[in-house]
Amino acid sequence: MKKSGVNYVCQSCGYISVKWKGKCPHCGEWNSFMEEISAHINPSVEIKPRPINSWEIEDYGRISTCFENLDIALGGGLVKGQIILIAGEPGIGKSTLLLQISGRLAEKGKILYISGEESGSQIAMRGRRIGVTNSQIIVYPETVLEEILKVLEKEDFTLVVVDSVQTIYSESIESSPGSISQVREVAFRISEICKNKGIPCFIVGQITKEGLIAGPKVLEHLVDTVLYFEGERYSHYRVVKVVKNRFGSTGEIAVFKMGDKGLEEIPEPSAFFIEERRESPGSAVFPYTEGSKPILLEVQALVLPALYTTPQRKTQGFDVNRLSLILAVLEKEANLFTRDCDVFVNIAGGMVVKEPAVDLAVALAVASSKKNRQLPTDTVIFGELGLSGEVRSVHLGELRLKEAIRFGFKRAVVPKTSNDTGNIEVIPVSSIKEALEILL
Ligand SMILES: Nc1ncnc2c1ncn2[C@@H]1O[C@H](COP(=O)(O)OP(=O)(O)OP(=O)(O)O)[C@@H](O)[C@H]1O
Ligand SMILES: [Mg+2]
Repeated sequence: MKKSGVNYVCQSCGYISVKWKGKCPHCGEWNSFMEEISAHINPSVEIKPRPINSWEIEDYGRISTCFENLDIALGGGLVKGQIILIAGEPGIGKSTLLLQISGRLAEKGKILYISGEESGSQIAMRGRRIGVTNSQIIVYPETVLEEILKVLEKEDFTLVVVDSVQTIYSESIESSPGSISQVREVAFRISEICKNKGIPCFIVGQITKEGLIAGPKVLEHLVDTVLYFEGERYSHYRVVKVVKNRFGSTGEIAVFKMGDKGLEEIPEPSAFFIEERRESPGSAVFPYTEGSKPILLEVQALVLPALYTTPQRKTQGFDVNRLSLILAVLEKEANLFTRDCDVFVNIAGGMVVKEPAVDLAVALAVASSKKNRQLPTDTVIFGELGLSGEVRSVHLGELRLKEAIRFGFKRAVVPKTSNDTGNIEVIPVSSIKEALEILL
């Protein structure tokens, strides 16, 4: 690898080429290559290879963020020297969450809040609004990496926040702030110091829809933990999802509510997501889970005769292509025709569901709306749908059932291979046709 010189770097995925290319051979993005001067890699302290049992085992010494569910999602709290990337769309609430965590941790010691995006007084104003005014929080509106490193080297902190990685730049690299080489260098140098000093560090990464600014994707391998901050900007709910964690399991989530006093944890997300459910045709309850904490969600479908020649398929919180596939399966395997209908599917509350376990609930909600017949209100539904209409098993079935029991549901329509849990009537189905016959 050459140590320095001009390279062309794809701003979408980080692929490096010695020549400019119109299309990235790695991610397929067009016009994404930018000229960058590659960074000098600093020689690190010499480390010798040693047998596995001769290394000291450090105690994680978990530090609480003071948000109970966030601690659980992180595997018990923050770890000394843990580098956490928190990525999310503009305005979702990243700075608010981190300022709140800073406020709570400031009782234990000094916090360095590096802000490349907002001025000191903007942060102070937010702080006053959400009740974070502790003088232990040192706000540092600096964008030059070398200056930040000096402060980090000189002083010790309980927590470091970098808001955001795209706005900070190193003077030794010629490309503009936010480019892949800058983002990598900034994250690498700051995390190196924090790791050595055992300071947990949050790094904010902006996601843009166009992917023009270096996305946080390239940083994912550099950090210990990656959190995605999701939610509808115009609804008050927010979800922090753990997508990578070297100190705990992934798929864990913590749900918050955004208000003028900042973010507030929702201790019972299931109750929150199904509280406004109207028991009517087109509504199905689905126990969602990707980690250890299941949440009951309402899947809503609306099927009505098409207004225009091309019927519409619209979804919110669910992949529209997956909906087309489910509609095709319903038609072929269960004689349920929607080709001359508009079909709308919504996951109530604004939650985004990617796991295929929701397929069966979507299919049954669509069928229920089409037939204008209500699904049993005391029933939860989960299972993946195969192309030949078979209902396939999903992971964590038992956890999902337990959550349904906790909220008083009496029946569960599930894949054939699921285990019985007692306290709830389990109705195993092997195909979409069978599920429709039983429920509608
Ligand atoms: N006075 C207020 N009352 C209620 N909510 C507010 C108020 N002011 C801001 N918010 C909420 O805070 C959000 C912005 O929070 P924040 O600045 O922490 O987001 P961010 O992810 O850091 O944004 P950016 O990408 O611009 O840095 C707004 O979208 C809004 O939901
Ligand atoms: Mg911000």
